[in-house]
Amino acid sequence: MKAYQVGVIGAGTMGAGIALVCARKGYRTWLLDANAAVLEKAQAYLQSTLAKDVAKGKITEQQKEETYQLVIPVSDMKELAACDVVIEAVPERLELKKSIFSSLVDICSPDALLLSNTSSISITEIAGGLKHPERILGFHFFNPAPVMPLIEVIHGKKSSKENVEKTYQFAKDLGKVPVLAADTPGFIVNRVARPYYNEGLRILGDHVATVEQMDRIMKKAGGFKMGPFELQDMIGIDINFATTESVYSNFFHEGRFKPSRIQQRMVQAGQLGRKTGEGFYDYNE
Ligand SMILES: NC(=O)c1ccc[n+]([C@@H]2O[C@H](COP(=O)([O-])OP(=O)(O)OC[C@H]3O[C@@H](n4cnc5c(N)ncnc54)[C@H](O)[C@@H]3O)[C@@H](O)[C@H]2O)c1
Repeated sequence: MKAYQVGVIGAGTMGAGIALVCARKGYRTWLLDANAAVLEKAQAYLQSTLAKDVAKGKITEQQKEETYQLVIPVSDMKELAACDVVIEAVPERLELKKSIFSSLVDICSPDALLLSNTSSISITEIAGGLKHPERILGFHFFNPAPVMPLIEVIHGKKSSKENVEKTYQFAKDLGKVPVLAADTPGFIVNRVARPYYNEGLRILGDHVATVEQMDRIMKKAGGFKMGPFELQDMIGIDINFATTESVYSNFFHEGRFKPSRIQQRMVQAGQLGRKTGEGFYDYNE
């Protein structure tokens, strides 16, 4: 099996988990973030997760150290020059993602795969107007990345067939279950999932049920692992809101995808869920 060298851009909720997935496979992984404090938090997360693996007898102390050492924190994109694969996991904003891919096509070798973990933004649009759009694809992990098996592999209008195949194989080499998805808003899973959040928010706005009641009902009666509100807190309210905005806009403002004012206000207040300690629930205790 190929020994990939992987770059991960953005060390937040998704990037830290993605780096762990790669390191556990023995791949040297450069983890980059614009914020040094986030990188430190990501390293603490890697340490504590691997320590749990040791405690459960899954790996030895030495394997833990070796895996941990495979993740190299960096702050300059030029350090990703030797990577075979780069996975971008920065916030869900088109211009930010475009600017990152615009730099990557110059920095990385011509056969490196350039992948975006976007939840909803069109891969065709991210790659549009850039050099080498054939190298840019979607590679959508689910949260938490080390636990969830599925990866959506999204081929943009100009992604080459060869790179789609290489990306699909990379997902399999990571031990994940890839599914090919067309480049449509929200791809497969986020399109299916939108009403779960949106209807929950509408029910909340209509004062039909509380956050706690809905989460409890969906778990007890619906058999869901998580209710819509605890899930939003785990995802990040800003990320979830941006995804809904993007799906709504790219479906030409179809009413069924209309974003919620409740989420908008939470984003404006910086109440972003677990990552800020406060979302629909309080995590400060
Ligand atoms: N949160 C989820 O459940 C989830 C699930 C699947 C996909 N995604 C997608 O993954 C991407 C990242 O989401 P997240 O939840 O990890 O976000 P996040 O806010 O937790 O982390 C994003 C990180 O990117 C960093 N960043 C911003 N600009 C940067 C730059 N120019 N260079 C380097 N780092 C930069 C930020 O400092 C931050 O640490 C988004 O596109 C999102 O839609 C999120």
